[in-house]
Amino acid sequence: MLDLWYKNAILYCIDVETYMDANGDGVGDFEGLTQRLDYIAGLGVTCIWLLPFYPTPNKDNGYDVMDYYNVDTRLGTLGDFVEFTRQANDRGIRVIVDLVINHTSDQHPWFQAACKDENSKYRDYYVWSKEKPEDADEGIVFPGYQKSTWTYNPEAGAYYFHRFYDHQADLNITNPQVREEIQKIMGFWLAIGVSGFRVDAAQFLIEVRDNQAQLDVESPYQYLKEIRNFLSWRRGDAILLAEANVSLEELPKYFGDGDKMQMLFNFIVNQNLFLALAREKATPLVEALKAMPSIPETGQWGHFIRNHDELSLDKLSDAQQNEIADAFAPDKEQMWIFDRGIRRRFAPMVDSDPRRLRLAYSLVLTLPGTPVINYGEELGMGDDLSLEERNSARTPMQWSNEPNADFSTASPDQLVLPVVTEGQYSYKHLNVVDERRDPKSLLNWMERAIRMRKECPEFGWGTWQIIETGNPCVFAHRCEWRGGVVIAVHNLSREAYTVTLELDDGDTERLIDLLGDQPYEAIEGTSHDVQLKGYGYRWFRVGSHHL
Ligand code: NOJ
Repeated sequence: MLDLWYKNAILYCIDVETYMDANGDGVGDFEGLTQRLDYIAGLGVTCIWLLPFYPTPNKDNGYDVMDYYNVDTRLGTLGDFVEFTRQANDRGIRVIVDLVINHTSDQHPWFQAACKDENSKYRDYYVWSKEKPEDADEGIVFPGYQKSTWTYNPEAGAYYFHRFYDHQADLNITNPQVREEIQKIMGFWLAIGVSGFRVDAAQFLIEVRDNQAQLDVESPYQYLKEIRNFLSWRRGDAILLAEANVSLEELPKYFGDGDKMQMLFNFIVNQNLFLALAREKATPLVEALKAMPSIPETGQWGHFIRNHDELSLDKLSDAQQNEIADAFAPDKEQMWIFDRGIRRRFAPMVDSDPRRLRLAYSLVLTLPGTPVINYGEELGMGDDLSLEERNSARTPMQWSNEPNADFSTASPDQLVLPVVTEGQYSYKHLNVVDERRDPKSLLNWMERAIRMRKECPEFGWGTWQIIETGNPCVFAHRCEWRGGVVIAVHNLSREAYTVTLELDDGDTERLIDLLGDQPYEAIEGTSHDVQLKGYGYRWFRVGSHHL
């Protein structure tokens, strides 16, 4: 039997820097994170994805790496990392780490050596041009914050290519030595216990410029196969989860025949889910799901509401983006970023309406794929729009109503990022301790919902189909695996509805309630009439067994 653990996993994304500070210096660390493993295990998480924690000048939240083989001293030591991973594994939790190999920091010794000496072997680790290429102002990823994609380095006497910020020089993967370095990096972290990698900027990683040598493989996608092969040789159960916000047509190339990435974040479903939430109609979500390519048996989608970046809406039309902005980012000046997205956390977008929060997370937990939750989402944490760029949605975890939300004992002005202290989302009343005591809290709901999701492997493993409801506001789908069938029904609208599910002849058995937004009358006999309150949702098992 295939042990595809990621098919029924609950992924939880953590930035070590803002999670828990054990040594009181104002910066979260591995020791603090390790102390919080019982909390994470209690939530039901089965895999932690760590944002970059490597030595860094920290100009892009750690995505500017200057040493791939260490832990930033602010966060701890390699010893602390190994201890954390061991303790996570003891609780049945795997760890995957960010693999940031599209670029290095300009402070990385490779780049420094490359600039200093044209004959250094490191010169060809990067992408150079004597003249400024004509398209230097195209393809900027951070418009408004990034000026160009080619920057002159006086020491080198040449322009270097950088898809992202100018301090993030792109590596040249056509150079076999760079590819060897990447394998070494992967091998290192696999050897000290990680279960795989989140592949940063995968679509840019495999991008090959005209002035680079050609890859000695038939297409850039083949490089994904190369790293996958290496991964699987070193550790058979390890995964690659790629960040590739690409078009529908491109997506299958990242999965290959099951020989490339095991998992991809589903950005298209994410963006259409927001359109559906804004319109209070299921249709955009249904259409996005219907448009998805079929994926290999070993492949899996990662579904999410928010991540550590902006909520990118780049795959939607301007009109659609505006609809979402009107609903969820009314103060566009402050809330909109990079001409394409929203820099808020999710709870403030829906004004912490408990019904809408639960509806969204119920969807993420049941969509065919694996849910990925960003730290703090389980509490409905807010944001701080006074912070720069994407930092607005990266404030520290709110543990209790003690000073600094118990994140750190340092003085508030020493914190890596300030905790939210004012208003509705202040740690004074929105924190883990208070939510644990409140049976109606989002945190307690999340724990229950996650437990139920884990009891329904059909959502992650199964074949799925959309069930017609005849109501454009209601999304219903059915997942089947090894004879088990589950059905989830979600009402995107504020109006209450009753829908009749058009089920296959086989599903003539009872629908047994597993989870819902409120207690409903049990469905009688073999009726498929489902009542839903506004923003209501219900999960069912088809059959006669409650468990
Ligand atoms: C994608 C990451 O998610 C983002 O945070 C980062 O800025 C870019 N890659 C550049 O590494």
